[in-house]
Amino acid sequence: MEIKKTIQDAINKQINAELYSAYLYLSMSAYAESINLPGFAHWLKMQVQEEIEHAMKMYDFVFSRAGKVVLDKIDQPQTEWKSIQEVFNDTYEHEKKVTEMINSLVDISREEKDKATELFLQWFVTEQVEEEASADEVVQKLKRVHDDPSGLMILDAEMAKRINHKEETKNGKD
Ligand code: FEO
Repeated sequence: MEIKKTIQDAINKQINAELYSAYLYLSMSAYAESINLPGFAHWLKMQVQEEIEHAMKMYDFVFSRAGKVVLDKIDQPQTEWKSIQEVFNDTYEHEKKVTEMINSLVDISREEKDKATELFLQWFVTEQVEEEASADEVVQKLKRVHDDPSGLMILDAEMAKRINHKEETKNGKD
C-alpha cells in the first residue's frame, strides 16, 4: 500500500530532525575536541553515525512504500557550551524531545490506520529507550566526577572505547 501524504510529510520531517541531531552531536563533538576531551569527542562522533543511520532507515522506508523523500534545510546547531556536563545534560534533554517526536509519529500512523508504518516505528520506540538511557548514564557519571580533573581523564578514556552498532553486530555483541 502506497504511503499517505500525511505520513510521508511526517516522516520527511523526522528525517530532518534525525539529521539535525547528527549535526548537533557533531557540533558537541567539535566542542569536546576544543576543550581537549578526545574520548568524549569520539563518543559523540559515534552518536553522529547513529543519527545518520536513523535518518537513512526512514529515507529507505519512504521509498519502500513508493513515497517521495523531500529534504529540507538543517538548522544551525548550538556551537558553545559551558562544560562537558552541560553538553550531556543537553544530549539527554534532546533525546527526550526526539522520543516525543517518535511517539507522535506513532500516534499519526494509528490515526491513519497505517499498520506498516506503526510496525516500522516500533524499532525507533525501542531505540529511544536506549538513546535516553545511554545519555543519562553519561550525565550521571559526569555528576560523580564533578570537577575532579583526574576522574574526568579516566572517564574520557572510557568514552573513547565506544563502538557503533554495526561494529557491535560484526563482533557478535548484538
Ligand atoms: Fe535518532 Fe538519538 O535519536
